[in-house]
Amino acid sequence: MKSRILGNSRLKVSALGLGCMGFTQSYPPYISDEEAIKVIRTAYEKGVTLFDTAEVYGPYTNEVLLGKALAPFRDEVVIASKFGFDLVKGNDTDGPNGRAVGLSSRPESIRLAVEGSLQRLGTDRIDLYYQHRVDPTVPIEDVAGTIGDLITEGKVLYWGLSEASADTIRRAHHIQPLTAVQSEYSMWYRAPEENVLPALRQLGIGFVPFSPLGKAILTGRFDQNSTFDSDDFRSQIARFSPDNLSQNLQLVDYVKLLASNKNVTPAQIALGWLLAQYDYIVPIPGTKKVERLDENLASTGVAFSQSELEDIRQTLNKFAVVGERYPESQEKLTEK
Ligand SMILES: NC(=O)c1ccc[n+]([C@@H]2O[C@H](COP(=O)([O-])OP(=O)(O)OC[C@H]3O[C@@H](n4cnc5c(N)ncnc54)[C@H](OP(=O)(O)O)[C@@H]3O)[C@@H](O)[C@H]2O)c1
Repeated sequence: MKSRILGNSRLKVSALGLGCMGFTQSYPPYISDEEAIKVIRTAYEKGVTLFDTAEVYGPYTNEVLLGKALAPFRDEVVIASKFGFDLVKGNDTDGPNGRAVGLSSRPESIRLAVEGSLQRLGTDRIDLYYQHRVDPTVPIEDVAGTIGDLITEGKVLYWGLSEASADTIRRAHHIQPLTAVQSEYSMWYRAPEENVLPALRQLGIGFVPFSPLGKAILTGRFDQNSTFDSDDFRSQIARFSPDNLSQNLQLVDYVKLLASNKNVTPAQIALGWLLAQYDYIVPIPGTKKVERLDENLASTGVAFSQSELEDIRQTLNKFAVVGERYPESQEKLTEK
């Protein structure tokens, strides 16, 4: 497995990480904890060293699962988790673990979150700790200061932001240098190319694209008749609605064409293309299946020439992807 470093911080990780959210939410059907632990451990055996989770996944259950899975080789891996959602306690309506009701990055909330995550992950430090969404009510300088204290205390080793604007990234980095920014980026969602990626290149900060397979659409798995169960997050996303799917699949047909030209799979094109954008980029595709893990990891061997990348960029620009990538209530939590 090839490795990469996340920016000037020199944090070394496998060129692809494993996104673990889907083990417990968003993309049913789910597998048992035992099976999930097997997939996570197989990823480690195959050379994956970056594992991505968050307090809010579950909430809480994803961190417990990941902590259990990684316990035998905890010192060999980089655990990334996230804080920043305001979670209400469990009850009859909100389920046993409660749910997120907004954002909270006040210093006392971060301290509470880190202690909970450390306990659930069964570790004494979080290698890479992201603010999950920027809290508009708390200056990013205060967040950076709190994380700086946690780094001094050894509870956090490196930190990052998720879905933050270039301006917030610069302000945060000035106070406490960032190792990585994690935002959505893929062949069908390229907004970070505008301001975020240029800022990261300039500042020497790593980039961890989430949903790098476009929540599976770029794998070529869906057609215009695909539908999603109500508990599948894609059922709430306009880009996957029956009205928009057939137009959006035109871009996927192009990805399939690129794949057949290179004799690889569409998923490998989607991930290989991301890896080719920036040396400090480390995508974190999620899968619950070992055979898909193998397929995804092989994308580190897919190469693109500069002229191929330019052709692809120009062709992708011609596809108008229709529909929002998030329901409105979630989109408004991301910084523009
Ligand atoms: N910071 C944030 O706000 C944020 C938001 C979303 C996600 N994330 C992180 O990013 C990670 C990845 O994002 P994501 O899970 O949303 O999207 P993704 O990685 O783009 O797609 C995951 C979906 O693709 C399927 N899949 C994976 N490999 C495949 C293959 N080779 N062929 C066919 N299908 C394949 C998975 O199905 P199976 O599982 O059935 O294989 C799952 O349905 C998450 O796990 C999470 O850790 C972060």
